[in-house]
Amino acid sequence: MVETADNLEEEMFLWGLFSLVLWRRSLAMNPIQRPEMYIIGAQPLCSQLTGLSQGQRKLCQLYQDHMVYIGEGAKTGIKECQYQFRQRRWNCSTVDNTSVFGRVMQIGSRETAFTYAISAAGVVNAISRACREGELSTCGCSRAARPRDLPRDWLWGGCGDNVNYGYRFAREFVDAREREKNYPRGSTEHARTLMNLQNNEAGRMAVYNLANVACKCHGVSGSCSLKTCWLQLADFRRVGEFLKEKYDSAAAMRIGRRGKLELVNNRFNPPTAEDLAYIDPSPDYCLRNESTGSLGTQGRLCNKTSEGMDGCELMCCGRGYDQFKTYKHERCHCKFHWCCYVKCKRCTSLVDQFVCK
Ligand SMILES: *[C@@H]1O[C@H](CO)[C@@H](O)[C@H](O)[C@H]1NC(C)=O
Ligand SMILES: *[C@@H]1O[C@H](CO)[C@@H](O)[C@H](O)[C@H]1NC(C)=O
Ligand SMILES: *[C@@H]1O[C@H](CO)[C@@H](O)[C@H](O)[C@H]1NC(C)=O
Ligand SMILES: *[C@@H]1O[C@H](CO)[C@@H](O)[C@H](O)[C@H]1NC(C)=O
Repeated sequence: MVETADNLEEEMFLWGLFSLVLWRRSLAMNPIQRPEMYIIGAQPLCSQLTGLSQGQRKLCQLYQDHMVYIGEGAKTGIKECQYQFRQRRWNCSTVDNTSVFGRVMQIGSRETAFTYAISAAGVVNAISRACREGELSTCGCSRAARPRDLPRDWLWGGCGDNVNYGYRFAREFVDAREREKNYPRGSTEHARTLMNLQNNEAGRMAVYNLANVACKCHGVSGSCSLKTCWLQLADFRRVGEFLKEKYDSAAAMRIGRRGKLELVNNRFNPPTAEDLAYIDPSPDYCLRNESTGSLGTQGRLCNKTSEGMDGCELMCCGRGYDQFKTYKHERCHCKFHWCCYVKCKRCTSLVDQFVCK
């Protein structure tokens, strides 16, 4: 069965990326029965992606080979979001039920800001790597200039991740949706557009700035007399952690008289291009609420001894918790065998688990 986006409404998509995710999923399930998806120049791919804006559709037609990577990147972003927020009341899981996710996204909250940033970051990441791997017709290895502080006898020029291209393409594609909107200056909708642009950019910048020099040794038996270096993307987990910190320090904004976002509280520093910004307070994530799209925390696992957000007190919002016994399987009694592998046993133990009421 092919799950095209037909049954989902336009507003449910974060700039169309989720339709790409769905499309990827359907492709993965059924690659052979849909060969037309690979036909270059034919329409089916771009017209099937109902979540795309007009400008995005044009870019889709021009850069069909990029679309798979955009979808993959967005998915990586969502996965990372779920990891970073696994111990929070809002756990970024509403993605699975697209209609609920859509409603949460309608609120210009801190959480929405994070979701936009991490998805944009995922797109930069995926496109930059695809360039390096030779998967795209319009880009190749990074051509970034040799860093000045690289020791003189190290070689520069291995095939690096093309983060320059990834950044620029993601800016075109991801922001296209926002730039097409033509809301009156100073309106709430205009404020939201500005907010989205700010957070998209923060996500892209995170990947761009965290990319770093990687080197490999050559020379006689590991002497490392010669090094070759290139530009390499950071592990995406680091991007997730970095943006999570940006989430914690996100700036509360409102639309100002000149039609620009301004700080709600002037005592703070205005956000830079690398910071997250939001315009609405977060909905209550404690209780399930159809109108805000909050799932509530009933049924969530919590930690009885933790005083943090993952602790039962905070996670369950004071409603209390139920206790269960459950079997936990672990690798144990591991032994190192010469040479070179580790052999473990599987141990099972009975542990307590706590679940919010
Ligand atoms: C998503 O949630 C809505 C209502 O909350 C429900 O009607 C719908 O069946 C769900 N969709 C999926 C795919 O789970
Ligand atoms: C759901 O959220 C809305 C907006 O915050 C609020 O007005 C409403 O009372 C909530 N409904 C329930 C059932 O909690
Ligand atoms: C997030 O929480 C909901 C319940 O609030 C749960 O159904 C879902 O499985 C959780 N998602 C993840 C990824 O942990
Ligand atoms: C629960 O929280 C405590 C204190 O933060 C921590 O030491 C422990 O590892 C946590 N337990 C689990 C199962 O995560």
